[in-house]
Amino acid sequence: MVKKVALITGAAVGIGRAIAVRLARDGIAIGVLDLKRADAQKVADDITRNAGEAIGLEADISKRAQVQAAAQALRSALGPITILVNNAGITGFKPFLEITDEEWDRMHTVNLKGTFIVTQTIIPDMIAAGWGRIVNISSSSAQSGSAQMAHYSSSKGAMIALTRTLAREFGPAGITVNTIPPRFVMNTVMSEESFQEPPMAGRREAMRLMGPIQREGQPEDIAGAAAWLVSDEAGYVTGQVIGVNGGRYI
Ligand SMILES: NC(=O)c1ccc[n+]([C@@H]2O[C@H](COP(=O)([O-])OP(=O)(O)OC[C@H]3O[C@@H](n4cnc5c(N)ncnc54)[C@H](O)[C@@H]3O)[C@@H](O)[C@H]2O)c1
Repeated sequence: MVKKVALITGAAVGIGRAIAVRLARDGIAIGVLDLKRADAQKVADDITRNAGEAIGLEADISKRAQVQAAAQALRSALGPITILVNNAGITGFKPFLEITDEEWDRMHTVNLKGTFIVTQTIIPDMIAAGWGRIVNISSSSAQSGSAQMAHYSSSKGAMIALTRTLAREFGPAGITVNTIPPRFVMNTVMSEESFQEPPMAGRREAMRLMGPIQREGQPEDIAGAAAWLVSDEAGYVTGQVIGVNGGRYI
């Protein structure tokens, strides 16, 4: 079997880390990308200790030159990149009327423009291979709306639109593009911090009990779905929004 190479952004912790570890279990070589190489390398080392193949990469996804350098380092080390998981992102809570231009721009620059830059950098490898898989980690806040998260939820909604558009544009090239919009996934830096501040503080138990599957989502829940979406088996699935949320859509 030909070795596949995946780039996972924001993979030092949380959901991205779980996806990197899970894909490595399927024999996929992993580029673990995050803001600090040392943090990314720790995950890569965990993967190699468990007989997988991985390297740590440093880049801010919103900086094109950094992304291009990291992608080139991954290609040189492990080969062409035909799997991409756009997972890196930031969040924040702020009443709509108080969001500044700077806060709006920063959210969209990382979550949306970063996804644009990374995807544009990697797609040529997929076109050359005639095969590719892209999974964008968006957010259920884009589906349901989420008070005090207008800057965040709008950036994630745009990721869903981007997913559907790229699915149409690159399907003929053998590339599938899907999105998983998590709801609350605990044991990540983002979610643990979110539950410390208003409007989330004190709501964790209520959130757990909301909906049919009454437990907290875990990073591994998202990783399992991502592993299937990047597999050969999922080759007829594209442009889809795959809910992994315990049935708690809204
Ligand atoms: N945890 C949840 O409940 C939840 C819910 C909905 C959506 N999501 C989405 O899932 C993704 C992962 O979330 P998480 O909870 O694991 O978050 P997290 O904060 O625990 O991890 C995010 C990672 O992304 C990295 N990162 C941030 N900005 C970056 C940048 N500019 N360049 C490169 N790396 C960057 C961080 O350093 C961090 O390692 C995010 O896109 C988030 O919006 C999470």
